[in-house]
Amino acid sequence: MKGIILAGGEGSRLYPTSIIYSKQLTMIYDKPMIYYPLSVLMLVGIRDILIISNDETILFYEKLFKDGSQFGLSFSYSIQDKPRGLADAFLIGEKFISDDSVTMILGDNIFYGKLDFIRNAVKLNKGATVFGYYVKDPQRYGVIEFDENGKVISIEEKPKKPKSNFAIVGLYIYNNDVIEIAKKLKPSTRGELEITDINKEYLKLNKLKVELFGRGIAWLDTGTPQSLLEASTFIGAVEHRQDLKIACIEEVAYMMDFISRKELKELINKMPNCSYKSYLIKIFSNTHMHNRYQK
Ligand code: DAU
Repeated sequence: MKGIILAGGEGSRLYPTSIIYSKQLTMIYDKPMIYYPLSVLMLVGIRDILIISNDETILFYEKLFKDGSQFGLSFSYSIQDKPRGLADAFLIGEKFISDDSVTMILGDNIFYGKLDFIRNAVKLNKGATVFGYYVKDPQRYGVIEFDENGKVISIEEKPKKPKSNFAIVGLYIYNNDVIEIAKKLKPSTRGELEITDINKEYLKLNKLKVELFGRGIAWLDTGTPQSLLEASTFIGAVEHRQDLKIACIEEVAYMMDFISRKELKELINKMPNCSYKSYLIKIFSNTHMHNRYQK
């Protein structure tokens, strides 16, 4: 299973910061936004990851993650020169995906909670698997309509009159057919290759599975200055209460056994003195925690 993080776009709602870099580098509490979706892919067990962003920002990701081997990962980078839509990722990523299946996560989606079901969904996926989340403002998202037996009957992108409150979150698992499906797409009225059109095609072929996120999972929005502040406050509150970090990728790499104790130590030694380093020293010293981690 390959992984893609789509981290481009114009981010125009975050102007003027968006002049300089794409929003997925913005700090959410104590680390860049992209750490959160990256840690989800890692926790699911995906290690071969393509990051797609615009040409101004891709250099920053390369600086941040290099080839990924320090985290036991393999990173590739591709440029999307224009925001042609989410489904464009499968055209850009065609060579990277090769004949494998692929999980794509949006670089601005933050999930928090017990995410084991995603790992199972990746293992069990046959065609496409997407996830629904109950929201108060479904018209901003891809929306799923169910019949009385819970069977999916339609999916609509940003409908004016949503047929349910279930939005599709920015995490998509596809078999290799996604490449051919993406190639046949036509741009929508807003000029984008829509991921919703890919999902509709899988639905038509009876190969779309929709799983619902329970209420114990937080799916945080990061589109506006206000929602960024709220996401930071949420992450900060949980981290401060537990004295455990969310989406600390060095910790995740170590806990998932992608890197050894020795490699974690090397990463720590390269860090400047800061609270992030102190935290990782604590993780390194507490072998009991490592053994309790569920892989
Ligand atoms: O967040 C989930 C929603 O994501 C889904 O419910 C919708 O079905 C799906 O279409 C998408 O909604 P938006 O159209 O609102 O996504 P947005 O334009 O905000 O783009 C999502 C992220 O992907 C954002 O961080 C920017 C990045 N992006 C977007 C486009 C269109 C790219 O990197 N390249 C692009 O071409």
